[in-house]
Amino acid sequence: MDIRFTDCSVSFGERVALHPLTLALDERRIGIIGLNGSGKTTFARLINGLVKPTTGRVVVNGLDTRKDDKAVLAEAGFIFQNPQHQLIMPIVSDDIAFGLKNRGLPQHEIAARTEAALTRFGVTHLARRRVHELSGGETQLVAMASVVVTGPRILILDEPTNQLDLRNRRMVADTIDTLDEDTIVITHDLALVEGVERLLLFHEGRLLADGRPAETIRRYHEVAGC
Ligand SMILES: Nc1ncnc2c1ncn2[C@@H]1O[C@H](COP(=O)(O)OP(=O)(O)OP(=O)(O)O)[C@@H](O)[C@H]1O
Ligand SMILES: [Mg+2]
Repeated sequence: MDIRFTDCSVSFGERVALHPLTLALDERRIGIIGLNGSGKTTFARLINGLVKPTTGRVVVNGLDTRKDDKAVLAEAGFIFQNPQHQLIMPIVSDDIAFGLKNRGLPQHEIAARTEAALTRFGVTHLARRRVHELSGGETQLVAMASVVVTGPRILILDEPTNQLDLRNRRMVADTIDTLDEDTIVITHDLALVEGVERLLLFHEGRLLADGRPAETIRRYHEVAGC
C-alpha cells in the first residue's frame, strides 16, 4: 500500500477527532490500537474517503480521497465495526454479488466470482441464508467476502474480532493472516496485531506511537495505566 497523509486533521464541529498528522504507510500489514474514542476509526475512514479531511489531504495509491472518491472506495475496502450494517441484500449470496452487479459485470462472471468468494471465506453453506439471521462470526466472514469480491487492493478491518467466541475469533484471525490484500486492522484484541509489520497507537486524537508491535503495545499499557 502507499498511503500518504499530509497535514491531515479531522474536526466534527468544535471537537477535534484527529490533530494534524503527516504520515506515510507502505507496509503490507498494519495495526492500529488505542483507547475508546482515541480516533482510530476516524483515521481509518479517512483512508477510503468515508471521512474527508477537514484540513490537509490523504492520497491512497496515488488517488486523492477528495478528488477521486469513487476510485478510492474501490481501492480500499472497509469492513465496519458493526458489519451487519453493511450487508444490504437479504440473502448472503445476493449480498456478495451486489457490488459486482453494480459494476455491470456479465451474469456468468458475477456467479463465478461470488462462488469463489464464498469458498475463499468458508461460507458456501451460508449462501442461501438470510443475512440478519447470521451469527456474529458468520456475519464477519460474509462482510469480508462481500467487500473482497469487488477486488480492493487494501482492506481496512475495524475491530474484526469484536464479539466473537474463541473459535470464530481464531477463524477470522487466520483468514485475515492469509489475505493477499494489504491489511489495516484496528483492534482492542492485541494478539491480533502482535505480528504486524507496523503498529500505530492513537491517543486523544494524536498518533502517540508508531513502530514495532512490542514497543507500541508497551506504550499503550502506559497510557491506559494498566
Ligand atoms: N460523526 C461524528 N460526529 C461527531 N463526533 C464524532 C464522529 N465520529 C467520531 N466522533 C468523535 O471523534 C472521536 C474519535 O472517535 P473514533 O470513532 O475515531 O474513536 P475510536 O478510537 O474508533 O473509538 P472506539 O475504540 O470506541 O471504536 C470521539 O470523541 C467521537 O465521539
Ligand atoms: Mg472505532
